[in-house]
Amino acid sequence: MNISVKIKDLVLKNPLTVASGTAGYGEELARFIDLAKLGAIFTKGLSLKPRPGNRGNRILETPSGVLNSIGLENVGLERFLSEKLPFLAERGATVIPNVAGHSVEENADLCRELSADPRVAALELNVSCPNVKEGGMVFGTDLDRFTEVVTKSRKASRCPLIVKLSPNVSDIAAFAVRAEELGADAVSAVNTFLGMKIDVKKRRPHFENRVAGLSGPAIRPLAVRAVYQVYEKVRIPVIGLGGIASLDDMLEFIMAGASAVSVGTMNMVDPGVSVDLVGALERWLGDEKINDLNELIGAAHPVREGTTGCST
Ligand SMILES: Cc1cc2nc3c(=O)[nH]c(=O)nc-3n(C[C@H](O)[C@H](O)[C@H](O)COP(=O)(O)O)c2cc1C
Repeated sequence: MNISVKIKDLVLKNPLTVASGTAGYGEELARFIDLAKLGAIFTKGLSLKPRPGNRGNRILETPSGVLNSIGLENVGLERFLSEKLPFLAERGATVIPNVAGHSVEENADLCRELSADPRVAALELNVSCPNVKEGGMVFGTDLDRFTEVVTKSRKASRCPLIVKLSPNVSDIAAFAVRAEELGADAVSAVNTFLGMKIDVKKRRPHFENRVAGLSGPAIRPLAVRAVYQVYEKVRIPVIGLGGIASLDDMLEFIMAGASAVSVGTMNMVDPGVSVDLVGALERWLGDEKINDLNELIGAAHPVREGTTGCST
């Protein structure tokens, strides 16, 4: 049975990955799971210099999800390369750093430096963080700014480049199409949805940054819709995420068009869930007598021209 999937020339041993920002640099997760068993780990959004992140409240549980306002706290490029990457490489993890610079130039510099390291399998360009004032979601919601940052980051990257899309737009597929035109090797969908919490006692927003990003099972139907719409318009692989907690959730994303999936918020509920899902997927494919997972990608769509469609 084949459960490996491809992103350009990068082969992921299975489609299960952990989402950026919900698995840090793998250190905490490594106490619970064997990181080498994952398709890949997307590490926390990285900037050139360390960032302290946002002040005040940072995370709040909501019905079936969380709101977060972390503000891209991270160790910076130097410590990532000297401490975090060796830790992950020693454990046999496939590492995909998440690039989250403030400016077009910072993103390009990060892509250049990171992709020069052979321990980096691919890069994910985060143009969709809702929790920072500069960069972040501005890049992901304005097609001109998006074009600029993807063009320069693509040029600077010597490894597969995945562009992480913002769901906070009316036409997410338009951004995916633009990423494909500009040479991105894959897109990931989705980052968090803009949300807000009002503290009724204080009559003020709960988060200092006022808005925050909503994730977890609460957003799953929205994320599945986004993946479906993106898959209709592009040929590059789509990495699907948003509230995945179970085998069925993962299958929904794959049938909507995802070549790989990420577990995010649910890592905070059960740090073993991503690796458990690898086994659950293998058992399900065996029961369904499907020899190659790739046959299932996009199975919920009408058959594409020039393909043989899904066969079981
Ligand atoms: C606490 C937290 C921190 C996050 N940090 C990042 C980040 O640094 N970069 C990024 O691209 N996405 C970040 N995300 C978004 C997730 O990677 C993911 O896109 C989103 O949470 C949806 O997936 P989920 O519903 O499975 O969590 C973060 C999410 C959470 C909950």
